[in-house]
Amino acid sequence: MSVFHPITTARCLVRLADASDASYLLHYREQNREHLAPWEPLREASYYTLAHCVQTLAESRAAIRFDRAYPFFVLDLAGSEIIACFTFANVVRGAFQASHLGYSIAAHRQGQGLMQEALDGALQWAFTELGLHRVMANYMPRNERSGRLLERLGFEREGYARRYLQIAGVWEDHVLTSRIRAD
Ligand SMILES: CC(C)(COP(=O)(O)OP(=O)(O)OC[C@H]1O[C@@H](n2cnc3c(N)ncnc32)[C@H](O)[C@@H]1OP(=O)(O)O)[C@@H](O)C(=O)NCCC(=O)NCCS
Repeated sequence: MSVFHPITTARCLVRLADASDASYLLHYREQNREHLAPWEPLREASYYTLAHCVQTLAESRAAIRFDRAYPFFVLDLAGSEIIACFTFANVVRGAFQASHLGYSIAAHRQGQGLMQEALDGALQWAFTELGLHRVMANYMPRNERSGRLLERLGFEREGYARRYLQIAGVWEDHVLTSRIRAD
């Protein structure tokens, strides 16, 4: 298991998801339900319960232990509120050394450069400590905010996949991008 030491940036705290974060996570899900609905899979009503958050975090910790995924929370500097989440998911080793990156930020923290601030350091960690060679991130063409974020982070467009992910109940086309480790 790769160790991630929490990073403090100018405006936030970035750390791996912890088993004790369930009430913070529930608050994030409830507060951002409408904001995130157009960009995520359909959610069951149970998704907005503490029990589901506890389960998610147990799965997160197991995924970290088995080097399958690395789910992160971005908190305010006081560490009292989750303001964004991101995950290096689907880690594949061997000849690929790659992962998919997914992310979201709270509605009231959007448009302040915080997602980029948090991801900058974490990507560095993924390429060095985690040893990844390629981080892939894909977005719907109409998700212009996401496209701009990826461009600023140095991701390059690699393709276009039709009906790629089921988002809000619809199979949506996605732009495929990657950032490759510079070495
Ligand atoms: C995609 C998403 C994470 C982008 O968030 P974001 O806040 O726009 O991203 P950043 O942290 O890079 O912020 C950049 C914006 O802050 C602005 N900004 C304000 N102050 C800033 C500062 N001090 N430093 C940098 N940027 C700043 C930038 O101008 C930029 O705005 P612009 O894109 O309108 O030009 C967010 O829109 C989101 O969570 N969407 C819903 C979920 C989602 O779509 N997830 C991705 C699925 S592929």
